[in-house]
Amino acid sequence: MTDEWRGWREAAQAALYGDEGFYRSPEGPAGHFRTSVHASPLFATAVARLLTGVARELDTGTVALVDVGAGRGELLTGVLAALPEGLDVTPYAVEVAARPPGLDPRIEWCAQPPAGVAGLLFANEWLDNVPVEVAEADAEGVPRYVHVRASDGAERLGSAVTGADAAWLERWWPLSAPGERAEIGRPRDAAWAGAVGSLTAGAAVAVDYTHVRGGRPPFGTLTGFRGGREVRPVPDGSCDLTAHVALDACAAAVAEAGIDASTELTDQRAALRRLGVGGDRPPLSLATTDPAGYVRALAAAGEAAELAARGGLGDFGWLLHRVGLPALPP
Ligand SMILES: C[S@@+](CC[C@H](N)C(=O)[O-])C[C@H]1O[C@@H](n2cnc3c(N)ncnc32)[C@H](O)[C@@H]1O
Repeated sequence: MTDEWRGWREAAQAALYGDEGFYRSPEGPAGHFRTSVHASPLFATAVARLLTGVARELDTGTVALVDVGAGRGELLTGVLAALPEGLDVTPYAVEVAARPPGLDPRIEWCAQPPAGVAGLLFANEWLDNVPVEVAEADAEGVPRYVHVRASDGAERLGSAVTGADAAWLERWWPLSAPGERAEIGRPRDAAWAGAVGSLTAGAAVAVDYTHVRGGRPPFGTLTGFRGGREVRPVPDGSCDLTAHVALDACAAAVAEAGIDASTELTDQRAALRRLGVGGDRPPLSLATTDPAGYVRALAAAGEAAELAARGGLGDFGWLLHRVGLPALPP
């Protein structure tokens, strides 16, 4: 921890991923918040279906499943349990934190996405944890970097935003009125384009809290989480630091990197429904013919409803690229 004033990107990088960083702690992300992965095994089932479909389209029985920002390997473990017989999957967990003990030995634990594999690359709530600079318009409406002190999270304005960061703001998140704030998503654009570019063929999906141009929150979304609660963002390693993702900018970065991929941006509700996770209640008649089956189906419908909820996980963005595969019909 330091009393220096630094930009949010550098401060968050140290607080989350430094030697004593938040994400290196033994309890892992699941100790502090609940993602779709933890909400229900139906999420892993949906990802298994997506992977199976990709394998079918690639016309192969051997595919890679790359989970970027894999936490403690929970999603990969769930997908491996949900896969159909006969599909040979090489699972990769791409993670900053160390491999947890007792993890399925089939899972390869790595620091970067493996280069040149075919299959499905999936990133659930990864990009919102890629540190970014925060900008705020000063009294004259000029965007300046926000500097933060790690010891207490106090902020002050630094130099004017210039160069590639200024161009990004102008294009994706223009600020004008004094006090307006934005998170400069350039590192996320680059991280996502790099991850998608690691695939030779298949599909890449980023799932995250999102906003798109025209609907950006005027004061940004940077916040903290600790022990299941939203807290003030202080970059001292004691809490998660997260900001919603400009997935439209990430999508454009993939196209601009020259990757031969189609792009679709939808929400989790629609994406899961397409993968057979709908949340419809079972017919009441099942309660008489198969009471145990009815109770199981009712529980599954409740979990699916949480994954698809308006104002909750269902509003998450799904940015889908199909690499070397024909685009889906609209
Ligand atoms: C919010 S957690 C999500 C975990 C899991 N995907 C889930 O949905 O439950 C974000 C994870 O991304 C990891 N992470 C962040 N940046 C990373 C990077 N550049 N490379 C690998 N892992 C990263 C963090 O360590 C953390 O485990």
